[in-house]
Amino acid sequence: MITLKINQKSYEVDAAPDMPLLWVLRDLLGLTGTKFGCGVAQCGACTVHLNGEAVRSCVTLVKRAIGQDVVTIEGLSPDSSHPLQQAWLEFDVPQCGYCQSGQLMSAAVLLKENPNPTDQDIDDAMSGNICRCGTYPRIRKAIHRAASLQKEGGSHV
Ligand code: FES
Ligand code: FES
Repeated sequence: MITLKINQKSYEVDAAPDMPLLWVLRDLLGLTGTKFGCGVAQCGACTVHLNGEAVRSCVTLVKRAIGQDVVTIEGLSPDSSHPLQQAWLEFDVPQCGYCQSGQLMSAAVLLKENPNPTDQDIDDAMSGNICRCGTYPRIRKAIHRAASLQKEGGSHV
């Protein structure tokens, strides 16, 4: 058994230590907000936070997460109140939606590290997250909006 801390909750899972974290999240724990896209760290759909860093869970072995702090899209906020989630709703960012949890998780790390990103900062930070629907302009706009919301409202990220 492996003990994991995910979204502030402790889980016991019967997983091989070399299983990718993505499969543990989705198949063993039913946390299906995190998506499988490419499986080889090329698309960003599977992005989660490991100790506050954005990682590709499709290539992160679950043993790396033991005793660490994992946050998935389900834990980004308790009630969709994260400034990014508010901005995403305001600008109707998703099209098919498939890439969006990964986009949000990457954007959350960006905003935490750089509360006032330029277009270039956003493009650089988000370049590993592919959107087949081409929602990039809305993603950029929503990240700027979330940055202002964060400034106005203080804390979340
Ligand atoms: S599924 Fe992990 S980066 Fe594509
Ligand atoms: S919204 Fe469809 S892949 Fe991004």
